[in-house]
Amino acid sequence: MSEAPRSFIPAAGHDWLLPLYDPLLRLMGVDRIRAALIDEAAPQPGDRVLDLGCGTGSLAIQLLAACPEARVCGMDPDPKALGRARRKAVQAGVELEWREGFADALPFEDGSFDCVVSSLVFHHLAPNTVRAVVPEVRRVLRPGGTLNVLDFGAAGHGIHGLLSHLASHQHGDEDVAGELPELMEKAGLVEVESRPTRRTLLGEVFLTTGKLPDQAA
Ligand SMILES: C[S@@+](CC[C@H](N)C(=O)[O-])C[C@H]1O[C@@H](n2cnc3c(N)ncnc32)[C@H](O)[C@@H]1O
Repeated sequence: MSEAPRSFIPAAGHDWLLPLYDPLLRLMGVDRIRAALIDEAAPQPGDRVLDLGCGTGSLAIQLLAACPEARVCGMDPDPKALGRARRKAVQAGVELEWREGFADALPFEDGSFDCVVSSLVFHHLAPNTVRAVVPEVRRVLRPGGTLNVLDFGAAGHGIHGLLSHLASHQHGDEDVAGELPELMEKAGLVEVESRPTRRTLLGEVFLTTGKLPDQAA
């Protein structure tokens, strides 16, 4: 018997809202917030970089513009969002790898990436999925590789935690956002830091970073 396809929360909550996703995020100034993530990730020529939950591909394309010699791969479970990402890359005249997949079952070999970045994805994941994603990311990182996550803070942060509240209601009341640094440390990442970057209409956005030791066990 074939398995039912896995479900996921799409970028704008519903497929029919996807065309509005990029304009809405531009309005919120998210391109500038993603720039902080790119500065932190600082991809180097030759690095292989994974954009986890790339959606319509804006971050992956921005990353490649920041370091054209990096090899950037965008991955997302949503074929519709990936279709948009592919079209945007063609329009921008850049070549990236696009893969369909889920963050807790990455379709990549161990130690494949120098850097994993993710923007505004973790609040789309159920708490238990987040707990499975962090060790899975660690698996695909090379020694010395980094994980850089941009996302809304716990629903209690800031006065406008609307999206965090909505997202956590979709997953029950458990809110795993504040647990991310601890999960990263538990998975063996070091130099873990989390700081607020910007307050948006939909909540305060945090940048959480960590790296795998140069000599990973
Ligand atoms: C708000 S969008 C963010 C997209 C993009 N990173 C950005 O900054 O615009 C959240 C994305 O997470 C993806 N997503 C949802 N569940 C996922 C999962 N289990 N694994 C990976 N990505 C997932 C959705 O398909 C969606 O594209």
